[in-house]
Amino acid sequence: MVINSITSLLKTKYPLVQAPMNWLTDAKLVAAVSNAGGLGVFGPNPGQTKMIHGAESHMNQMRHQIRLAKQLTDHEFGINIVIEDKPAIHMNETLKVAFEENLHYFAVVGDPNQAVYDQIKAHSGIIIARPLTPTIYNAQLAEKLGADVFVATGYDEGGILPQSGQGTFTAIPMIADALNIPVLAAGGINDHRGVNAALALGADGVYVGSRFLVAEEAPTSWATKQAILRGKYSEMVLISHDQRALMNTFTKKLATDYAQHHDGQKNDLSVSNRGGLLPGMRLGKYETDVISVNTGINLIRSCGSVQQIVEDLMQDMNK
Ligand SMILES: Cc1cc2nc3c(=O)[nH]c(=O)nc-3n(C[C@H](O)[C@H](O)[C@H](O)COP(=O)(O)O)c2cc1C
Repeated sequence: MVINSITSLLKTKYPLVQAPMNWLTDAKLVAAVSNAGGLGVFGPNPGQTKMIHGAESHMNQMRHQIRLAKQLTDHEFGINIVIEDKPAIHMNETLKVAFEENLHYFAVVGDPNQAVYDQIKAHSGIIIARPLTPTIYNAQLAEKLGADVFVATGYDEGGILPQSGQGTFTAIPMIADALNIPVLAAGGINDHRGVNAALALGADGVYVGSRFLVAEEAPTSWATKQAILRGKYSEMVLISHDQRALMNTFTKKLATDYAQHHDGQKNDLSVSNRGGLLPGMRLGKYETDVISVNTGINLIRSCGSVQQIVEDLMQDMNK
């Protein structure tokens, strides 16, 4: 048991949050992380192998997954709230279900937003704020608007990349020095050395996504887990201003096109038209679609259970 500002706030054994990942963070994974001493967090589209249309169906699926997680753990877990101006994101519906199901931890991604933060606070929620590109300005604004924790995300991360290009190693102390609330470090943290480095740089805990993609309990397809386990940083390509992917025929073409024309939006659209991360990561089409992982992919060499991964990440916490 580690006692610091994060474990006290999240009521967890370890200062560890499992980062939400679209399609890939379902009830089984989320509950396993909370059982192992971290905070599991639902991302969008949990437990799905195809797109669900309509707000009602979306809410039913989210409610079903939350209830499933409650059967699998007695610990609390969180949910991802994506602030974006698109109805397809279903932010309000996700908040509604989360409040009805009495969840208390909200990983809110996007620029600090008073209305969203106020709603969460009105339901006694804890706000883990993560603007996609952390800056001193948005960190201090998030704190002022009521965020309880701020996530400093570096360019090493998997998923949508910060636009500043600032690496995790410099983002953490910059943000930690600017805030009074606790800071979680995100981006490229795949083993206990990364955890120790994040804490040494001023973070109070870690926010880990990619490492959990290969966990036994993760819904990532088996073939994709194998592709990640043998993947190398030297085989990753930048396919747009905000996406990096393992190289295959499709992503190589996108990367060449992006290097020539710098039109990231066009490439992002063609990825999203194919279903985003769904085909490559959930359905196993790793040879033809996008696999998103952090730059520390060379360190992801064993799968194992969530419990084993958490114990490995946190091994120096128990000393
Ligand atoms: C495959 C994948 C999908 C992601 N999807 C989401 C998402 O839906 N919502 C979100 O807030 N962040 C998403 N992220 C970002 C993570 O929440 C987190 O910031 C990131 O994984 C931390 O860096 P790491 O991957 O180096 O551990 C995703 C990351 C990955 C790798």
